[in-house]
Amino acid sequence: MSIDATKEILEARKLLLQESKTEEDPLSLFPEVVAQSPQMHQVLQLVAKMAKTNGSVLILGESGTGKELIASALHRLSHRAHHPFIAINCSAIPDELLESELFGHVKGAFTGADRQREGYFGTANQGTVFLDEIGDMSLRLQAKLLRVLQEKTYSPVGSNRVLDADVRIIAATNVDLEKAIKEQSFRLDLYYRLHVLPLNLPPLRERAGDIECLLYHFLEIANQVHRKEVPCWFSPDAMTILRQYEWPGNIRQLQNIIERLVIVKEGGEITAQELPAECLVVQEGGRAHSAAPKVFAAMRSAHYPKEFGSLPIEGINLTQVMEDFENRYILEALERTQNNKNQAARLLGLNRTTLVERLKKRKIGV
Ligand SMILES: Nc1ncnc2c1ncn2[C@@H]1O[C@H](COP(=O)(O)OP(=O)(O)OP(=O)(O)O)[C@@H](O)[C@H]1O
Ligand SMILES: [Mg+2]
Repeated sequence: MSIDATKEILEARKLLLQESKTEEDPLSLFPEVVAQSPQMHQVLQLVAKMAKTNGSVLILGESGTGKELIASALHRLSHRAHHPFIAINCSAIPDELLESELFGHVKGAFTGADRQREGYFGTANQGTVFLDEIGDMSLRLQAKLLRVLQEKTYSPVGSNRVLDADVRIIAATNVDLEKAIKEQSFRLDLYYRLHVLPLNLPPLRERAGDIECLLYHFLEIANQVHRKEVPCWFSPDAMTILRQYEWPGNIRQLQNIIERLVIVKEGGEITAQELPAECLVVQEGGRAHSAAPKVFAAMRSAHYPKEFGSLPIEGINLTQVMEDFENRYILEALERTQNNKNQAARLLGLNRTTLVERLKKRKIGV
């Protein structure tokens, strides 16, 4: 790495350390970000400091954790705020096209280039370019991006002209870049240049304190957008399940689920029965443990009525029906927990010994 590049990195990092002495409430600076958890307070504090520097930022986080939202908030707080913020999804655009989208092209540069076109780096002049899914960028384009970062210049496709690039770059990815470097699909030197200011966005399951406020936030928005005369709200059981759910698709998934629920509901209370099946799957992991029995109880109540038909005219064998009913749930619990008796017993609201006795009686899985 050049001496200039190293100096820039050191200066950006120094600023972050210095400013940590004057800590203000970060939430007031980010009206677009709904958060209550200490983890997000820390993230936002860091973002506010990063906004005052000019270094490249690399946002790491699972899909749907809010990488683009944070990138645009960072831009809004920076001295570049009055200039464009341009977001590009590097995985959505084919390689050749991405090059001309980023750097522009001259007339006749390739088939179909019937006129000159300015690229995003030109359009975003003095602003910010957000490169989402940077891990999917080809090695060829990575080399060109490195030049932008190191020399602050670029050339449009089909031209030798050297143009100045006055943009801040924020990149984001949900792939493991260190692994990609080992596999030689990501350049180490580019990683160092982007990694000047790294920011980890925790998944929602690691900031459970945010789930409730996000649920209310998106519920309110969906009620407004879909003009509900009677607004929708969640029953206490539904709320318990949603709070305990691990949200593998993070905030995007939460937002989509709430929107779907509100669209299909006339208005009024959304009950546990109405939640999508995906929310009723309990994942492994310590966090939900203490409240888990409550969740399973809510889950049972969510399924119970669906299992009942009306009494047939010819009548039933109640003992047999009850046994079938019990068997189905026991089997489902064993399947879902991959035959873990402790967890299955918990799922069924039984203690382990009772479950094992019933399994023996029915000659199931023992
Ligand atoms: N803390 C938050 N408060 C309010 N809305 C949020 C928050 N975090 C994310 N969102 C919203 O959730 C949705 C997903 O966020 P965003 O697109 O920024 O995530 P992402 O990490 O870029 O996702 P992907 O990996 O799928 O590209 C957006 O509609 C965004 O506005
Ligand atoms: Mg994104």
